Amino acid sequence: MTTPHRHFLNLSDAGGDAIALMLNDAIDRKAARRGLPKGTPDADAPLAGRTLAMIFEKNSTRTRVSFDMAMRQLGGTPMVMDAGSMQLGRGEPISDTAQVLSRMVDGVMLRTDDHAKVVTMAETGSIPIINGLTDLSHPCQIMADLLTVIEHGKSLPGLKWAWLGDGNNVLHSIIEAGALLGFSVMAACPEGYDPDPDFTAQHDANFSLTRDPLEAVKDADIVVTDTWISMGQAHAEAKLAAMMPYQVTTALMAKAKPDALFLHCLPAHRGEEVTAEVIDGPQSVIWDEAENRLHAQKSILLWCFGLLG
Ligand code: CP
Ligand code: NVA
Repeated sequence: MTTPHRHFLNLSDAGGDAIALMLNDAIDRKAARRGLPKGTPDADAPLAGRTLAMIFEKNSTRTRVSFDMAMRQLGGTPMVMDAGSMQLGRGEPISDTAQVLSRMVDGVMLRTDDHAKVVTMAETGSIPIINGLTDLSHPCQIMADLLTVIEHGKSLPGLKWAWLGDGNNVLHSIIEAGALLGFSVMAACPEGYDPDPDFTAQHDANFSLTRDPLEAVKDADIVVTDTWISMGQAHAEAKLAAMMPYQVTTALMAKAKPDALFLHCLPAHRGEEVTAEVIDGPQSVIWDEAENRLHAQKSILLWCFGLLG
């Protein structure tokens, strides 16, 4: 049997219709297994016989555990590999690694720095490749965010999402989602920390940028932030100082809609990008968001393997 060749490197690889399909599937699967022990497979075990290799060139808790449990719940086999102990870590080319893994496993999830590496793996291998975070984007995270927002009773089209802080990989995928699914994204970033203009130019349908945190959160349905120092970036005092006015505080949340939700992909730094009062407060849905990484991953995997849509 030939494995279908669907990659999930960015949200546009799937497009709005397939994303909607995956989100609906995630909602259904989550409901269908409610009450089951977490290690029990879903009744249909649709990935029985398939193996996913996961390669981590950066640290991870949520992505690692959610993909691992997603494969188990779908009846498949997860294989976690630390890049540092692979020949990849000694300089074996990504393209050779892709060819070898394509002969032995059914799909690969790669977390890395340079986005070009996931692209090379997709171009040179012959199995589905999933982006588990690059310096450019984090599409799997945003699938969980979308699922969380829907579960909390909000319909995506027409919403206003407010981003505060660093113009990073997570913001890029939110901007892309806004363009594909019809919600607006206003990012408040300090000068010098804007999202990548080349990326935003490709997905600017519903995106705007401001320097004013109040303008971003005004009438916002969703308020979202992330660490000010992403993995691989130097810890710079100047950056932290520039970010401070963009901290998500109770006062800032009060300027958003009264029923606004607070999202954070985690890991979080209380007292930096968000106060403890907000992230541990009533508008925060971060634990649902983290759990939904698992449910969203399952639908992403099914789509990649050609078993959905
Ligand atoms: N949000 C997220 O990707 O978390 P991890 O870095 O723990 O995988
Ligand atoms: N922007 C963060 C996200 C971590 C999940 C990083 O790249 O480190």
